[in-house]
Amino acid sequence: MLWRYFFQFVWYSFLSFLKQPSIFFKMFSALSMPYSHKREVGYVKIFSIGVEPEYRIHGIGSRLIEEMKSRIDFDTYEYITLETDALEDNKANDFYKKNGFRLSSEFYTFEGRHMNKYHYRRRNENPVS
Ligand SMILES: CC(C)(COP(=O)(O)OP(=O)(O)OC[C@H]1O[C@@H](n2cnc3c(N)ncnc32)[C@H](O)[C@@H]1OP(=O)(O)O)[C@@H](O)C(=O)NCCC(=O)NCCS
Repeated sequence: MLWRYFFQFVWYSFLSFLKQPSIFFKMFSALSMPYSHKREVGYVKIFSIGVEPEYRIHGIGSRLIEEMKSRIDFDTYEYITLETDALEDNKANDFYKKNGFRLSSEFYTFEGRHMNKYHYRRRNENPVS
């Protein structure tokens, strides 16, 4: 996808960078992810999800997740994974748990952000909840 949409990616990254220069390191580390996150088993990764603030808490985010789950062939891809800030006031953690994701691990980024990693499996036999 990165190569197929390379120019769009560069353009929208540039606009985002102009709006918020501090995201530079986040974008840079995202570029290395396809290589650093290579695994033996196939998996699907959510990089970001967002609902316009005035439409939140109306079930739209959950419907997006449900639609995504319905499009994934879980015989080919073992699980869905994502990372989000581990902050107590980060409502995204509640959102993912509500949608069947289980905490799989915690880690710190090189900028010192405390992150939670979640997995969703079709048969949710996740190691840690
Ligand atoms: C996270 C996000 C995508 C959820 O979308 P949504 O349409 O609001 O979610 P839903 O209505 O389907 O689900 C709501 C559930 O999410 C959680 N939640 C999300 N935001 C919340 C908030 N501001 N306050 C309370 N609960 C919240 C709760 O568990 C809630 O369940 P409840 O209503 O039973 O308490 C949306 O809040 C968003 O865009 N947030 C900003 C971007 C973000 O944080 N993205 C995830 C980063 S990885």
